Amino acid sequence: MATRRDFLRLGLGTAALAACGSRTSAAPTPAIPDADAPDTPFAAVCSETADNIEGPFYKAGAPSRAVLATDRDAGERLVLGGTVRTTACEPLVGAVLDVWHADARGGYDNDGWGHRGTLTTDRLGRWQLRSIMPGRYLNGRRYRPVHIHVKLRADGHRELTTQLYFAGDPYNEGDDFIVPSLIMAHAVTGNARRAAFDFVLANA
Ligand SMILES: [Fe+2]
Repeated sequence: MATRRDFLRLGLGTAALAACGSRTSAAPTPAIPDADAPDTPFAAVCSETADNIEGPFYKAGAPSRAVLATDRDAGERLVLGGTVRTTACEPLVGAVLDVWHADARGGYDNDGWGHRGTLTTDRLGRWQLRSIMPGRYLNGRRYRPVHIHVKLRADGHRELTTQLYFAGDPYNEGDDFIVPSLIMAHAVTGNARRAAFDFVLANA
């Protein structure tokens, strides 16, 4: 679920992503006399990210890129990033994220590669993409909440297929597939909505 710490990170923008690496620090964080200090110390064990249904629109072979929308694509701009870690909270270098999502009207590009791409984590396990906010689409008689599909692959780790959701979407409540731990905090900063998510992959 969205936490106070998530909102703090969002407020820091890209600097917050760089700060994610501090989670692996072996030294305990000293007491900070600051109202914005984290509520709890960093955990030594990271819990595996929940999986979620693949859905019918995955296509293997998406191009390697971090920008999944053009300037001509309708929709609110989105900057989404975070880290990929092991269950020991170590950053996973070279993990591949295979991302796909609907356009602003809720349609998937099943003929081309619109809003599809693969990204690789950097030396600190970080990733970041730019795209547009997906639209909702009908699943039977009900709209699915706004979501982003992701498959993650990393040597020595179990492949993960999941989805990311946005806090506050009225369609989150009662969705057949949503998992609370996959709901992200988000906020508009500058000309884009920004959200962050840290994945954890289990050993193979
Ligand atoms: Fe979907």
